[in-house]
Amino acid sequence: MTIKTITMALLTGTMACACSQKEPVYKDASAPVDRRVEDLLGRMTLEEKVGQMNQFVGLEHIRRNEAHLTEADLKNNTAQAFYPGFPADTIAKWTKEGRIGSFLHVLTLEEANHLQSLAMESRLQIPVIFGIDAIHGNANAPDNTVYPTNIGLASSFNLGMARRIARQTALEMRAMNMHWTFNPNVEVARDPRWGRCGETFGEDPYLVSLMGVESVKGYQGDLGEDDVLACIKHFVGGSQPVNGTNGAPTDLSERTLREVFFPPFREGVQAGAMSLMTAHNELNGIPCHSNEWLMEDVLRGEWGFEGFVVSDWMDIEHIHDLHATAENLKEAYFQSIMSGMDMHMHGIHWNEMVCELVREGRIPESRIDRSVRKILEIKFRLGLFEHPYADPETTMDVRLCEEHRQTALEAAREGIVLLKNDGLLPLESGKYRRVLVTGINADDQNILGDWSAAQRPENVTTVLEGLKMVSPVTEFVFVDQGWDPRNMSPAQVDKAASAAVDCDLSIVVAGEYMFRDRWTERTCGEDTDRSDISLVGLQDELIRKIYAAGKPVVLVLVAGRPLGVEWAAGNLDAVVNAWEPGMYGGQAIAEILYGKVNPSAKLPVTMPRSAGQIQMIYNHKPSQYFHPYAVTPSTPLYPFGYGLSYTEYVYSDFRLDRTEISAGEDVKAYVTVTNKGGMAGDEIVQLYIRDSFSQVTRPVKELKDFARVHLEPGESREVEFTITPDKLMFLDKKMRPIVEPGEFFVMVGPSSDDKDLMKLGFNVK
Ligand code: BGC
Repeated sequence: MTIKTITMALLTGTMACACSQKEPVYKDASAPVDRRVEDLLGRMTLEEKVGQMNQFVGLEHIRRNEAHLTEADLKNNTAQAFYPGFPADTIAKWTKEGRIGSFLHVLTLEEANHLQSLAMESRLQIPVIFGIDAIHGNANAPDNTVYPTNIGLASSFNLGMARRIARQTALEMRAMNMHWTFNPNVEVARDPRWGRCGETFGEDPYLVSLMGVESVKGYQGDLGEDDVLACIKHFVGGSQPVNGTNGAPTDLSERTLREVFFPPFREGVQAGAMSLMTAHNELNGIPCHSNEWLMEDVLRGEWGFEGFVVSDWMDIEHIHDLHATAENLKEAYFQSIMSGMDMHMHGIHWNEMVCELVREGRIPESRIDRSVRKILEIKFRLGLFEHPYADPETTMDVRLCEEHRQTALEAAREGIVLLKNDGLLPLESGKYRRVLVTGINADDQNILGDWSAAQRPENVTTVLEGLKMVSPVTEFVFVDQGWDPRNMSPAQVDKAASAAVDCDLSIVVAGEYMFRDRWTERTCGEDTDRSDISLVGLQDELIRKIYAAGKPVVLVLVAGRPLGVEWAAGNLDAVVNAWEPGMYGGQAIAEILYGKVNPSAKLPVTMPRSAGQIQMIYNHKPSQYFHPYAVTPSTPLYPFGYGLSYTEYVYSDFRLDRTEISAGEDVKAYVTVTNKGGMAGDEIVQLYIRDSFSQVTRPVKELKDFARVHLEPGESREVEFTITPDKLMFLDKKMRPIVEPGEFFVMVGPSSDDKDLMKLGFNVK
């Protein structure tokens, strides 16, 4: 036999061999997902299965941090991680061995593709799923569109906008090979001391639910190749911590949970959210991460959740080392899994200990299989097996594209709340020729908000830049106060005060500092809670000294929490609350100040005067102010649902289609809104309901519907609301849903304040 014939024989031999080796079902894109899942699961070792349930931060993140952070730093910094004793190379090796199912905090497409290529070297080539906190756009990574944070989005009451932003975010994420956003945060924010108010949709369960649902749908679509997995979080109660601090205990009755905190999660599940994150905090004595009632009974049992649960940052560890309800780490892992946990964010010892727990017979392998099935199902559905990489050549066609930038601008315009206007605004371009601009947020990227990395300067419009752009005829005199509210310079404050004397008007851009890059210096955001809600540092002094110059003053607040700016609200001519308005925040603020845009946003939270008023919410129980506070007022600084515009909306012809119904029937409410002013605008018409008498106490009012209507000057529109039986429902003494016969009041108007509301009653027979 010649060499040639031997080679031919070998080749044909190999080919024959390849032909007889059938491609595994799980690699067949045309096979149904459940078959692919079962096929793959059947091929996996226990180690590989448990690895799918584990998530680590990316290699670059580890390398950056292992160089300069200590183990002790990790306890106080939940923005950073590394794994002492387990360097980046070990994590890379584990990826190749198929022992890691997911990564988070990977910030570049190049790294995502690289990590995926390591996973593709593993025995079964199971792709990793990349998770990231794309809370308002994929802003944690550079070169993405940065929209306003959730509190600003909620202020627009624009559900279509929530859906649109989520959709665009999904596209930008997929263009970076990211597949899973840790959003929407559907916590009901009830304490402005808590630094995370900005990433929520505010204090009203109904509004939070609707915003959450739209976000979930926008992100997930049908969970295909253009979609990302949504994660409703944090389950549950952390937004009403006993002392206002993140992760502190929460003590909430089952009634409060079911009436206030559960509905947005339940609705999120119903909208199809396929992942959920548990909360840092303990709930009524049981850590949420080992809370079987929450994860199994309520989430899966009652609501039929079909996705998977992911832990929050080191929180399974905290069952042992913080809450102390597990004697050691292994016990903590055991408790968490047996309570319903599916994936661990950073489980250094997870793989080895969970495998041990299975081998010892404490955790049945079938329990592991249940979690892994869900994780694999999502990976298949998102198309990761077929498309493990994203294309660096085309990524920037999607990210920061014109349409997305335009949405960011529109959302900022719709989310900025005008709180006070003594007739100063809108500013006439040219009327005030010299304008002082000062304050910590006047010329800073902090307007991007929490959960954003620094972005290229050309992709962010600061307030000062926006003003110059919108009113080029004005001379803007900028006095820099630095970015750091804690370390303001008295000399700069005085410099601004004297500049104010020579100017015709002053704009002070004050508020909080949220920027993640300066984790320990910020005053608001995740893990940055406060014992009061006034302006930090010399900001108040700055405002008062500028006011003393005797010229008109506009205060613009940039903050991720409601601030108790009582003095400013009482004395200044105009106050604008911009929240965290994102990349074009500066432009949108300037457009509002100069009347290019008519403000339309309304507060999705109550603004108390001081921390002493907390808990202050509009939907409180009837006895809350039976004995009002002595000395200081019991009213908020600004109520929920409140916000001004430059035009005048008049409400009239409020009527109900019937005054008596049988249980199960609808009532229709109609109201006419007329734009009596000279500027076109959008009004957010709100409908509240109160049950007059009920077997358990009910809130004084609850938002049950709203409409955002556009009105040209002089235009009238009749708005129709349908009050369906679920809007009258509450939980009876035994926690059963019920609509009780009797009288209900319907209130309609431009805010939750009684004096703004028209009221009519009807009876349920
Ligand atoms: C936060 C989560 C976030 C996670 C990952 C935690 O500290 O509580 O909301 O998704 O970090 O960044």
